[in-house]
Formats: sequence, C-alpha cells, structure tokens
Amino acid sequence: IQTDIPPLKDTVPFTLGAAVERAQTLGEHARLLTRHYGSITTGNSLKWDATEPREGEFTFTEADHLVGYATEHGLKVRGHTLAWHSQTPDWVFKDGDRDLSASAADKALLLRRLEDHVRTLVTRYRGKIDSWDVVNEVVDENRPDGMRRSPWFLITGHDFIRTAFRAARAADPGATLVLNDYNTEFPRKRKAVYDLVKKLRAEGVPVDAVGHQLHVNIEQPPAAEIEKTIETFARLGVRQQVTELDVSVYPDFVSSYDTVPAEVLLRQGYRYKEIFDVFRRQAAGLSSVTLWGLADDDTWLSSFPITRLNPPLPFDDELQAKPAYWGIADPA
Ligand code: XIL
Repeated sequence: IQTDIPPLKDTVPFTLGAAVERAQTLGEHARLLTRHYGSITTGNSLKWDATEPREGEFTFTEADHLVGYATEHGLKVRGHTLAWHSQTPDWVFKDGDRDLSASAADKALLLRRLEDHVRTLVTRYRGKIDSWDVVNEVVDENRPDGMRRSPWFLITGHDFIRTAFRAARAADPGATLVLNDYNTEFPRKRKAVYDLVKKLRAEGVPVDAVGHQLHVNIEQPPAAEIEKTIETFARLGVRQQVTELDVSVYPDFVSSYDTVPAEVLLRQGYRYKEIFDVFRRQAAGLSSVTLWGLADDDTWLSSFPITRLNPPLPFDDELQAKPAYWGIADPA
C-alpha cells in the first residue's frame, strides 16, 4: 500500500469507516484498513442468516474475529443488522411448515424470536459495538402508511421495530441505536423516514440515530438533496450517520464498461469531493461516514443489480488511491 499519502481518516472531522469481512483484516488489506479508517461495519457477519441459521443455534466465528480485530487495532465497530427482510432464514417466519400469520399467537412468537435474537447479539458485544443498525430498510414511501410489506410488518405491524429497539437498549444501554435505510436523499423517501422516526421517538422508542445508506452514482442524486436530508434530520434532533456510501460509475441500472474510462474515474473523484464537501459542512449533525467496502476488489456493486465492472470506492483493485481518494482527502 502507499504510505506517502495522508490517512483518509485524518482528513475528515468525523469517524470514517469501511464495511469489511475477514479478508479485509488480513495482509495488505489490513494495512490499508488500519491506515485509513477508524471504524468498521460488519458487512455480512452479523446478519441473521450468518448468526442464527437455525432457531437458538448461534454462530459467531466471523463476527468474533472482526470485533476482536477491531478491538486490538483501536477501530470502532458498527453492528449490521438486527432486523431486516433480507438475509433472514425462512424459519424465522414459520411455525414448522406453516407461514406465520398476523394472529396474536403468531405475532407473539415472532416478537419473542426477535427479542431473543437481539438480546443474544447485543449482549455478546456489549461495550464493543458502538452503533447497531437495529432495523434496516423498513420504509416504503409508496405505501400510504410508509411501511415496507415485509413479513416483519405483515405479522407484527410497527411492533417489531419497537421490540428490536427496546431489546437492544436493554442489552447495551451505551450503544447508539440506528434506524437505517437507503434513498433517504430523495424527497418522498426522506419524508417517509422522517415521519416514522418522529413517531417512534414521540412514543419513547429509543431511536438514537438515522443511518443514511447513500448508495449513489456519479450523477444522482444531486449533492444539494443529500445536504437537504442531513439538514432536515438535524432539525428533528436525531443523530445521523452515513452508513453504506459508495459511488457507482453508472448513472443507470443497465450500462456497463469493459474497462472504466479514466475520464469516468476522474468524474467519480469530483463526485466524491462534492459529497464530502456536504459532509464537512454538515459535520455537526453527522457522527460517522462509512464506505460500503474497503477497495474495488471487493464490492457488492460488481453483482448488484447486474453483474458488471463497477469500481465504486476510493482504492482500486491493487489497493492504490484513485481520484475518488483525492476527492475525499483534498478539500481544497
Ligand atoms: C450486501 C452485501 O455487501 C453483499 O455481500 C450481500 O450479498 C448482500 O448484501 N444494503 C445493506 C447491506 O443494508 O446489508 C447490503 O449488503 C447492501 C445494501
């Protein structure tokens, strides 16, 4: 790795993090991680399918490794995620072969499973995980009530959110509890997430922070909309984190390059700069910014939404700094 360039974390007035798996804690990747970042998010290792594949059978090998590595190297940890509609095993929503319904008994069963899961994970890492993405992607702005029709919502209504946050607070009163979602920089989604957070907090549900995933591309959404989102939630008095930033080199869901033109990588660098200009201006409302990956050799965008070359991060496949790195590091 290059040692003649400034550590990225020293160039920003908030905690800078990266989502990682075990591979990013080994060899040169580990050197890049500890040099440039102050925090990690567990990419997949704490999701339900990874931690409780069968009821009551917990596996923590990967998560223990990541949290142990972080503790050893002075990195903060974001836990991701306690309740989500995706990467959740089928058994969670079933009683034997039968799908759970919205009956009182089924609802109680599901909430008990959720409470057990949350208590087990959050207690295990009490004092070691600084922030938890307690619920992930629960909002659907196209529904009149603003809620995604996940099994969680269909079976329990809003109660799974209340249960998850309360169980997390009870298990580790010191952890920052986050409601995490994507597209919060688009006006309708922003409003739906805002209304939900406001309602929950008015009820006393311990939602400490809003997580903005911020999976953006080189063109959209406009930086001014990102700024408006941070300003809007700051007025609500809720803390904020950027949790999953990356910048796709494609403005749409279909195009693909065989090699990404240098000119596009340069544009990506300027895009990072305009986004980090916003973060620096809004730093009072923003406690951390996390990139969804360490370097371009391992990014979910190479397979989502289609398989294609898509280098969205500040370091390339060889772990070398790209224009995107300088877009972050060099605010001048
Ligand atoms: C992604 C992981 O990076 C992939 O490895 C996995 O196959 C699918 O999930 N929003 C989220 C993350 O909250 O959990 C997702 O992570 C990316 C989108």
